[in-house]
Amino acid sequence: MIDSSRKILIIDDEPNIRTMVAKILEKHVFDVLTAADGAEGISLFRSARPSLMLVDIGLPDMSGLEVLTLVKEESPATQVIIFSGQGTALDVANAIRLGATDYISKPVNMSMLLHSINRCVDWMELSQEHDRYVRQLEREFQSQSLESSGQKTPDPEAMLSLIRSRRSVRAYTDRVPTDAVINSLLACAFNAPSAGNEQPWHFIVIKDRSVLTKIPEFHPYSAMLKTSHCAILVCGDMNLQKFPGNWTLDCSNATMNILLAAHAIGLGAVWLGVHPEKDREEGMRKLLSIPEGVVPFALVVLGYPAKLPESRERKPMEERIHRNAW
Ligand SMILES: Cc1cc2nc3c(=O)[nH]c(=O)nc-3n(C[C@H](O)[C@H](O)[C@H](O)COP(=O)(O)O)c2cc1C
Repeated sequence: MIDSSRKILIIDDEPNIRTMVAKILEKHVFDVLTAADGAEGISLFRSARPSLMLVDIGLPDMSGLEVLTLVKEESPATQVIIFSGQGTALDVANAIRLGATDYISKPVNMSMLLHSINRCVDWMELSQEHDRYVRQLEREFQSQSLESSGQKTPDPEAMLSLIRSRRSVRAYTDRVPTDAVINSLLACAFNAPSAGNEQPWHFIVIKDRSVLTKIPEFHPYSAMLKTSHCAILVCGDMNLQKFPGNWTLDCSNATMNILLAAHAIGLGAVWLGVHPEKDREEGMRKLLSIPEGVVPFALVVLGYPAKLPESRERKPMEERIHRNAW
């Protein structure tokens, strides 16, 4: 099927020109329509909506410039090339001022005409691509703002059940989470709330097995790292603190977002405490060359679950929930 950017309407009262140009353009895979005067041309333009028109300036019933004006009013994106037998410099200037893409003198030099048409087609394809891109951005922006304004939430019961069903997962298959998957978790971490929106965090993604297997040398509760392929170390940057003391809360929020996002996409994860244990902090600092002023906070170990954990005992809610006062 010929795509819509290759539909051309020729309006010219000379039958030879119409037939010759149409034949050549059809050979170049254009879908060609023809009209012998302005009225027929305008009616074909309205019914067929060509993306490109070749219009003779001297039509029997009206000027090609009148056709050009009408077409540009009704469909500014339609490209119009004006033909002329004995055009003056003023005609050329007028045609361009009225929005013609090009002006070609008769007798028609076919290679010049093809060059001009191909330029139009390239431009139209580019502009269609641009429009698609803008529409996609608008859709994404719209859905993001709807989500952030709370007007559209993905199935609320599914969200709640996701939060309730998260468990620490400590056994993983050999499948390694891709960088795209890790990035989608990090995007959720960056969306965590932080005091004064200071976002005092840094993340170190560790996929190197020789690094992961060194962590149990200084972290007593990290045996799962011997079989894991991926972990994210959440760190707090003391130099970024606007509200001193809040960084642990901010980093906790980011860590929790990673755990929930991992669970949402079928990964298993566990939070390994690092801060405030000094030996674990120093172990991480040395192993990963973390600068002073940045404190390793928590290590999230990630992988595709080899074994789903049993549900954990939870404290009875009535013992811990107080209403209106203690
Ligand atoms: C601050 C913190 C530190 C933790 N440290 C470790 C750890 O070092 N090793 C580990 O296996 N699990 C660790 N966990 C995971 C907890 O053991 C786990 O969240 C808890 O037992 C509840 O189980 P659940 O996550 O399956 O609900 C830690 C969790 C938190 C919040």
